[in-house]
Amino acid sequence: MSTSAEGKRTALVTGANSGLGKAIAKALAAMEMRVGLVARDRARGAAALEEIRAATGNEDLHLFVADLADQSAIRALAQAVCARFEHLHLLVNNAGTAFPERRLSPDGIECALAVNHLGPFILTSLLLDLLKASAPARIVNVGTRMNTALDFSDLNWDRRTYRTMQAYGQSKLGNLHFTFELARRLQDGGVTVNCVFPGVFKSNLGGTDGAQGLFWKLVARLLGWAIPSAEQAARRVLYVANAPELADASGQYFGDRKTIPAPAQALDPEANRRLWQISEMLTASPSPAGQAVGK
Ligand SMILES: NC(=O)c1ccc[n+]([C@@H]2O[C@H](COP(=O)([O-])OP(=O)(O)OC[C@H]3O[C@@H](n4cnc5c(N)ncnc54)[C@H](OP(=O)(O)O)[C@@H]3O)[C@@H](O)[C@H]2O)c1
Repeated sequence: MSTSAEGKRTALVTGANSGLGKAIAKALAAMEMRVGLVARDRARGAAALEEIRAATGNEDLHLFVADLADQSAIRALAQAVCARFEHLHLLVNNAGTAFPERRLSPDGIECALAVNHLGPFILTSLLLDLLKASAPARIVNVGTRMNTALDFSDLNWDRRTYRTMQAYGQSKLGNLHFTFELARRLQDGGVTVNCVFPGVFKSNLGGTDGAQGLFWKLVARLLGWAIPSAEQAARRVLYVANAPELADASGQYFGDRKTIPAPAQALDPEANRRLWQISEMLTASPSPAGQAVGK
């Protein structure tokens, strides 16, 4: 196994300043890995990094700032990661959010689709060569069970009335389509890709973007004691990221340490390919993902 100059394994976690991402980053730091934390806000990212450094004593933590709704920011992020890290053994595509109303990204794409699906699509594509050069390496995508079938005729919500949870669920189903199609394309490359449903847990999901509704806040207040913490949820992701027995597992959907059934639509290879092709178009030519995996 290739490692960084100091013999350390290197990980990159998106959405690392809050909730699940912060819990994952903290656990990886406690394992003495070199950890890159991606946050969209420098102050929130720096605060999380400092908290993790104080808690774990790990000095090998690196903050990267990027708004994953903005494709040019993702390209700059990938460049910065490749410039800073000589290896990358683990990429956790965790960042996710929901929006109270239809918003368009700087690239003209509905923001839930841009952040939750296209963000991982582009970032992974641009880091694929580094991951391959560091093989064995793993990509872990954080999904949800709150999935909504993709309406391929209106992915951008141009015609339909915008529904926050449908848009969220559709974009998050994209994580599964992406996982399955990428696994198919990566069959012999020493890089695995899996998706994890972390369960329902306490977090700030959608809070920063204004979509955390009164209902969820009330449920969280009333049932707060019963809802798992982000640290508990992180164990599911860490298992898929680290378990030796999963060294060759790829293209699978995990719940709590075991595979769970994926929605029928995501099991359709034609739908997976179709979303991949549309994603290539939406992320503008030249398609890094298509070129990097060569299919
Ligand atoms: N909470 C649950 O019950 C649950 C259940 C199933 C799946 N999930 C999934 O778990 C993952 C983590 O969510 P969480 O519950 O831990 O929520 P969270 O506490 O809000 O964390 C989400 C992270 O994503 C970041 N993020 C959002 N939009 C971004 C953007 N445009 N650019 C860069 N970073 C961005 C957030 O940054 P800011 O702090 O700046 O907003 C935050 O760091 C998500 O993929 C979510 O879909 C959560």
